[in-house]
Amino acid sequence: MNRFLISTIILLCAGWLGLSGQNKPPLPVEQAVWTEVQPGVWRARVGQPEAYDLLKAAGAAPKEDALEKMPSTSFPLPMDGIKATRTDGKTYLRFPLEEKEQIYGFGLNFKTVHRRGSILRLHVDHYGEEDNGRTHAPTPFYVSSNGYGVFINAARYLDVYAGTAVRKDSKHPPVATDRNTDPAWSAQPYSDAVEIRVPAEGVEIYVFGGPTPLDAVRRFNLFNGGGCLPPRWGLGFTQRVHRLYTAEEVKEEADEFASRGFPLDYIGLEPGWQSKSYPGTFEWDKTRFPDPEDFVMDMMERGVRLNLWINPYVAADASFARDIEPYTASHTVWVGMVPDFTLPAARDPFFNQLEKDQVAIGVSGYKIDEVDGFDQWLWPDVATFPSGLSGEQMRQTYGLLTQRYTTEMFEARNQRTYGLVRASNGGGVRFPYVIYNDNYNHREFITALINSSFAGVLWTPEARASKTGEEWLRRMQTVVFSPMAMINAWASGTKPWSFPEVAGQVKEMALLRMRMMPYWYSEFAKYHFEGTPPFRAMNLEPGFDVGPEQVTDTLGLEENPYAEAITREVKDQYMAGEYLLVAPMFEGETSRKVILPEGKWFDFYTGDYVGEGEVISVTPGLDRIPVFVKDGGIIPLMPPRLHAPAKGEKVDLEIRHYGGKPGSYRLYDDDGVSYNYQRGDYSFREIRFEKDANGEWKGSLSAPEPGKPNSVGKVTFRSMSDRKSP
Ligand code: GAL
Repeated sequence: MNRFLISTIILLCAGWLGLSGQNKPPLPVEQAVWTEVQPGVWRARVGQPEAYDLLKAAGAAPKEDALEKMPSTSFPLPMDGIKATRTDGKTYLRFPLEEKEQIYGFGLNFKTVHRRGSILRLHVDHYGEEDNGRTHAPTPFYVSSNGYGVFINAARYLDVYAGTAVRKDSKHPPVATDRNTDPAWSAQPYSDAVEIRVPAEGVEIYVFGGPTPLDAVRRFNLFNGGGCLPPRWGLGFTQRVHRLYTAEEVKEEADEFASRGFPLDYIGLEPGWQSKSYPGTFEWDKTRFPDPEDFVMDMMERGVRLNLWINPYVAADASFARDIEPYTASHTVWVGMVPDFTLPAARDPFFNQLEKDQVAIGVSGYKIDEVDGFDQWLWPDVATFPSGLSGEQMRQTYGLLTQRYTTEMFEARNQRTYGLVRASNGGGVRFPYVIYNDNYNHREFITALINSSFAGVLWTPEARASKTGEEWLRRMQTVVFSPMAMINAWASGTKPWSFPEVAGQVKEMALLRMRMMPYWYSEFAKYHFEGTPPFRAMNLEPGFDVGPEQVTDTLGLEENPYAEAITREVKDQYMAGEYLLVAPMFEGETSRKVILPEGKWFDFYTGDYVGEGEVISVTPGLDRIPVFVKDGGIIPLMPPRLHAPAKGEKVDLEIRHYGGKPGSYRLYDDDGVSYNYQRGDYSFREIRFEKDANGEWKGSLSAPEPGKPNSVGKVTFRSMSDRKSP
């Protein structure tokens, strides 16, 4: 297929009515061009798109070699169903929806997964306990159950009517019924369109082909550069210590982890590492950290790296304050100057300070806080920036900019980083950052983990504190099956062992996280090289087509005159890597339902068969988070240990096979710390499990590639479901 096949559609412009109601001449019919810019990725430009957009802010570039390898596909939507109207200085977009189609995405939402029927204003913000578009990563990307994706490349607040509004010219309009007599009358008439208002004279839009919804997500991620590949240590355990800890206390904490046998790869220092914070000086506090260089080295000798909290707002007494001042915004945040990171003159003094004071002495990464912020904690939309960008454009992209330039600082040293950030947006998939927030609802944390897979971001369900040992254990079990295994004890000072009644189980889970590192690492490599999110929604899984369940509202007409079916959906179980289904238990629960997609499924811990394409009920006890493995699934494990393997170290593997089907797995390997993989210094080795002539399972691992990093020591193969398969 011709990669750059150019197709055209006519974008119909509706008649143009002026604000005053006077008739204005209609805009001429506009002919936009859909260009296949990468295999299965089409772009159209409507009107005059703005010079600054999400992909430019992120500096995103497609991973062309990976996109080339995807199956060829044709334009996945009826082209004549995509329409644009320009009026009133804005662009209105319209995309068709079929009757049974489900849509997902539009950012990191916390309460719901299905988006059809939502009205949203996509706006970077701290999540305010409503799925209304204001969130940490309001990525303007949606995925359809019909197997395509749509992305609006605008650094603007976008109004989205996702299957809610009905037009007179609808091809499949709802039938008007009479409430007085018709029991089927609906308060939410059927809509066959997604409509989006872009507050700009033009916009760039993208369509991503499938054929499956997962393929559309993969193309979106690859188009933005492919997912991040953390260093191996990034997938180990991390503890964020109390905000006012001293160097000595941090060292003692690391020593206590070691003496108690809890794994620990990096410690996060909260605002107290800085001589002043909110606003920050970006230099060490010499009372708590008298010799930072020595301290960082001491910690490295313990096998523990350091991550530093910052928010990017500069105090007047920061050493570089005078240099950066002309390149900061009209308004302050936490009384700190807001650097205009689109300008090198603002970036240079800021990142030079981080580089020379922290990164050069061995600091491994940052937690970039407050780049979202409820309105009173960020600049207002009337703020101006020296580059000429508006407060709105900056707000939509500040998380992207801070991730981009910290990442580039580490890239320049050929040293991988893995950190935390509180805001991102479309285009940010390649940045090695995980989103977190201040809310603390365990169930919502899982829904966010699910939705992160539609938004090109990672999310951590961090554990902070708990009322009971049970809650602590349940939260820690979730943490272990997430992109960043973290305790954030900045305020509480909680330790993994703080609840003695479950300390043993917490430790076992933390060590399981470490044992699974070869699996997690390989799955992140697939995020990078193939675009597949390592933690993802069930809706991206083939054979899982559970739509939202409509349940009749129990409220009477007095309480809710628009009583309508309430939607219940699957938002409490997810896929972790190629083969695992994770169904977290929440505090207070002793059993739960798990929906198994088609095919046979097996218990992760025992290898027992549990069911096939059905809803099962599980009663796992307090020690276990329910985890299930696909038939033929292969999970490589390493021995339990306290730190990630170092560069060049060889590690033994126990390779497990589940179920009755032969299986295969691609095991990823590289040096674990540098960016040399981007120059080809990596390998995927093939693991296979097949039955031999005597009906016995035989595992094999392909030979290491000559000249490539090889961290595999002794290998043992274990068939988990032998004789147990039905
Ligand atoms: C919050 C952040 C917390 C913690 C705290 C320190 O904004 O979400 O995780 O870092 O700041 O002041």
